[in-house]
Amino acid sequence: MVDTPTHGAPDVAIAGGGVIGLACAWALARAGRTVAVVDPEPGRGAAWVAAGMLAPANEAHFGEEDLTRLLLAAADRWPAFAAAIEEAVGRSIGYDASNTVVVASDVSDRAALDQLLAFRTSIGVPSQRLTASECRALVPALSPSICGGAEVPGDHHVDNRRLVDALVEACRLAGVDLVLDRVARLDLDRAGTAAGLTTEGGARVPAGAVVAAMGWRTGQLLGVPDGVLPEVRPVKGHVLRLRATAPLFERTIRGLVRGRACYLVARRDHSVVVGATVEEVGDDLRVQAGAVHSLLDDARALVPGIDELELVECSVGLRPGSPDNAPFVGWTEISRLAVATGHFRNGVLLAPITGEAIAALVAGEDQPTDLAGFGARRERQRDTGGAGLR
Ligand code: GLY
Repeated sequence: MVDTPTHGAPDVAIAGGGVIGLACAWALARAGRTVAVVDPEPGRGAAWVAAGMLAPANEAHFGEEDLTRLLLAAADRWPAFAAAIEEAVGRSIGYDASNTVVVASDVSDRAALDQLLAFRTSIGVPSQRLTASECRALVPALSPSICGGAEVPGDHHVDNRRLVDALVEACRLAGVDLVLDRVARLDLDRAGTAAGLTTEGGARVPAGAVVAAMGWRTGQLLGVPDGVLPEVRPVKGHVLRLRATAPLFERTIRGLVRGRACYLVARRDHSVVVGATVEEVGDDLRVQAGAVHSLLDDARALVPGIDELELVECSVGLRPGSPDNAPFVGWTEISRLAVATGHFRNGVLLAPITGEAIAALVAGEDQPTDLAGFGARRERQRDTGGAGLR
């Protein structure tokens, strides 16, 4: 249990108001904690750019069995989490539990997809194989040239922009103090215990505990001794948003196109989100013509009808990538400093379980067993190979 902080100070200060920081703040506030979140623009980081897929099956990759178990446990939390946040703010967050369809664009993509589906079945994540015509019966907008695929139960999506806006509002309603400034540094007391944050504007936010949830920048938090925070890097993703006047398709479509992964997510307002590149180019937020071209090319190979849609947004987000693609959630070696980062491609999916874990830690309880092995440090770094449909 976290000790009582300085009089009037929050129990917990959270560095970073992305989907993870906000989910932690809301979970803590619902558990009766006083909370401050420090972020100049809460909810406008990687989760704003994302497509909002909740995809434990399609994010299950060779060598990532432990992570897949965590993703499945995280997905189980989603129906109750979505209902709770919708009740808190009195509006929909666009949570959609219809199954995803995954398709291959040619025979070699089909072979790669078959291998991946066989691996997923072997770890208990089955899918229903479909012929090309069965795929097209489910999703008539698919190209006549696709080469078969599968229906993937359990992979759903949420409107991520509605979600983060709802989290900001739910936090405010629950009394969370949103400090709209950049985090400058962690403050330690004389005993070397985390005691709060200082902002770039010079404001002090003293607190009984601190959670470092700054996405890919988490490792850059000043004031933390070297080696305490985990290694997290930016992984660039281009995402496109297109506008339709009538629904072109309803289910989420994922596909392999000449070995490249692509996804198309339909929103209830008939817009379509197309993603995403996975680029190891560091802190680069430029929208680049070549990436936009490749995404459009792949998306139209799967759904030719997108040619008719209006291209309304090309954006870039920086995912917090960890060495083994899995998150770091737990107390660090610095007393009362916790970390919640490294969620890579699954920040939206993992937000509820991460909030639950941080609230449990602050209460002095163990975190959910599903997160065992995903603490602030990992002794064993796995080489995932990273192959497959991302
Ligand atoms: N969650 C999918 C992506 O990161 O592109």
